[in-house]
Amino acid sequence: MKNTTNLKIYRRYAPIYDSLMRFWTAAPRRKAVELLKLKTGEQLLVPGVGTGLDLPNLPAGVCVTAVDLSPAMLQQARHKRQELVGFNVMDGQVLALPDGCFDALLLNLILSVVPDGPIAMQEAWRVLKPGGRIAIFDKFLPEGSRLSGFRRFAGWLIRQIGTDPNRRFREMIQNIPDALVPVDIPSVLYGQYRLILMIKPVATTK
Ligand SMILES: C[S@@+](CC[C@H](N)C(=O)[O-])C[C@H]1O[C@@H](n2cnc3c(N)ncnc32)[C@H](O)[C@@H]1O
Repeated sequence: MKNTTNLKIYRRYAPIYDSLMRFWTAAPRRKAVELLKLKTGEQLLVPGVGTGLDLPNLPAGVCVTAVDLSPAMLQQARHKRQELVGFNVMDGQVLALPDGCFDALLLNLILSVVPDGPIAMQEAWRVLKPGGRIAIFDKFLPEGSRLSGFRRFAGWLIRQIGTDPNRRFREMIQNIPDALVPVDIPSVLYGQYRLILMIKPVATTK
């Protein structure tokens, strides 16, 4: 999906997104935040924050930077949390943020949406501090499975509504060979969605 297409699609979704998504994503969203083990005073980045369904789950005292391509989605997010949040319109593939400035990132339902998932992942990695954590709740093609004709067609249909079910997580991290992935577990919809935790190694000094 191109950014221009996503902007159109998510402008339309903005008023109804919470009604469509809140119920069935509530438990995995809470779990993704738990995986991060956030502490008071830590800096958290939420790229593609959307309408902010994750914001109420964040512990008090965490400093949140919430960015999204869509002003209409961000407008909804502003009502979800006022304390310690900065909201910015920004492309998750080109973050206007310095290297290594976040303790943690939350990447829920975004790698399957941005035009280039591996580039968005690389950007997330760049702004993460050594020792930092990334939690992901998203749908991915099961590792090792073949992309069948049916799945290809279903993928095309689903892309028309703004998300791609046929991306592989391993492709997302192809540019970051040092990524540690201590958690990668099936989640809702019979494991089509997964919960993943990544850790950025602390550089060793010789
Ligand atoms: C499926 S929604 C997920 C929103 C939120 N993360 C959630 O879990 O509900 C995808 C979001 O990604 C945003 N988005 C699409 N392309 C983007 C990009 N290039 N950079 C940042 N956000 C983008 C859309 O505007 C939308 O808000």
